[in-house]
Amino acid sequence: AVAAAVVPAAGRGERLGPGAPKALRELGGVPLLVHAVRALARSRAVGLVVVAAPPDGVAEVAALLDNHGLDGKDIRVVAGGATRQESVRLGLAAIPAEVEIVLVHDAARPLVPVEVVDAVAAAVRAGAEAVVPAVPLADTVKRVEPQAGGGPEPVVDTPDRATLRAVQTPQGFRREVLHEVHEKALAEEASGGLPPVTDDAGLVERFGGRVVVVPGHEEAFKVTRPLDLVLAEAVLARRRA
Ligand code: CTP
Ligand code: MG
Repeated sequence: AVAAAVVPAAGRGERLGPGAPKALRELGGVPLLVHAVRALARSRAVGLVVVAAPPDGVAEVAALLDNHGLDGKDIRVVAGGATRQESVRLGLAAIPAEVEIVLVHDAARPLVPVEVVDAVAAAVRAGAEAVVPAVPLADTVKRVEPQAGGGPEPVVDTPDRATLRAVQTPQGFRREVLHEVHEKALAEEASGGLPPVTDDAGLVERFGGRVVVVPGHEEAFKVTRPLDLVLAEAVLARRRA
């Protein structure tokens, strides 16, 4: 079964600093979003890519993707929302009902290797309801008590690093599972609110589903801060050398 991918690309990129919306910022002269869509389109597992664009940038994004050869894959652009979760939900709504496997991939992860895309799709095809690519942590992590005034933060504990993973995208799902958890999250939001979840697999966990991890890749990192763009340029230059 061929999978569809949703690409949330409607964020502003506040942490990257002033400029165009993050998905439209350039890496090697090409917008991050175009890199990300190409990385997905390169996978034989992916037949359709739905981009959730900044609401005021749908026509611009559609034109941009039209102008880049994308292996003849079906690319659609819809308006994203005010949160990543909403953007994913709106993208998901544009996927035809017969598609059984959906990948969700951040526009902000332009350099994900096609092997990671393939591995995530394969794990869903093999029977998992939710799959995330992840890598071991380099740093030790501590849980703290954040201080309202910004003073030194008391440490609560240090989770065993060997059991921690840093999670990437694309995350892969049985379509009906992803749809159901997004609908539930929307309903519970309307009735008072839940603490925010920062990835789609987190929603599956919240509602009792099973999520499994497959190996991610160091080049699937998210472009979040200015230094990440410096690193991404270096990785791209190395690939082109
Ligand atoms: N995203 C989205 N819709 C939103 C917010 C985020 O589609 N309302 C997307 C971003 O475009 C990005 C992905 O979700 O591809 C991951 O989010 P993040 O890295 O946080 O991007 P931004 O929200 O744009 O950045 P920041 O949080 O620094 O503003
Ligand atoms: Mg954000």
